[in-house]
Amino acid sequence: MSRTVKTDIPGEDWRVTIEAVREAGGFEKVFAGRVAKPLPLVVELGYGRGEFLIGLAEAHPEQAYVGVEYSSKRTTKMARRLAKLELRNIALVEARAEDVLRDALTDESVACFWLNFPDPWPKARHHRRRFVQKETVARITRRLVPGGSLRVATDDPDYAEWIDAHLAAAPGLVNVYAPDPWRSEVSDRATTAYEEMWRAEGRRFHFFEYQRGPDPK
Ligand SMILES: C[S@@+](CC[C@H](N)C(=O)[O-])C[C@H]1O[C@@H](n2cnc3c(N)ncnc32)[C@H](O)[C@@H]1O
Repeated sequence: MSRTVKTDIPGEDWRVTIEAVREAGGFEKVFAGRVAKPLPLVVELGYGRGEFLIGLAEAHPEQAYVGVEYSSKRTTKMARRLAKLELRNIALVEARAEDVLRDALTDESVACFWLNFPDPWPKARHHRRRFVQKETVARITRRLVPGGSLRVATDDPDYAEWIDAHLAAAPGLVNVYAPDPWRSEVSDRATTAYEEMWRAEGRRFHFFEYQRGPDPK
């Protein structure tokens, strides 16, 4: 990481590049000495303002958390915020989540993926930009430990149908809420910044929870 970028951060800089993770020998090494339990990880993809991730990490200081966000502005803001907190159990990766899944995470290394309010890309010609795709879901499944979970939230009814179709068809994933495709409320989760905005507008929610069952390969 360049010196110029690092001096922006008023304290410890918890950002890490995909290359640095690979050079270190994986996230287990990145977190060694920082947390009691470096693996399996909890990963939030597209953490936005980061309040959800910070809440999780504060509640479980022994657990290693990885936040992935491709917005440089949001990553820098989050790094600055983390530098002022006492948390030592979050690593931030400024990258496309697809690239982190492919290049920085290893199979059976993640206990939980959180995907909160991913961009819905409503126009049909943009659907290929949606994060939830057959390949992404397959990779997520392989990265999960057996019994690990994928938790997705969206306010967008069309994206909810798309997510349902992709997750229900994914080999190795089991719907925790079956026979329902999703729940409109779940009690055991904190809210995110987008969720609070959408709640204020009276939008309806779709919360998915899937677990890795046997043999996703
Ligand atoms: C609609 S916002 C939701 C933010 C946050 N999860 C929340 O619920 O408040 C989507 C976030 O995902 C990020 N994002 C979108 N696509 C991404 C990708 N492929 N990889 C990493 N981050 C992504 C965006 O920069 C944005 O911060």
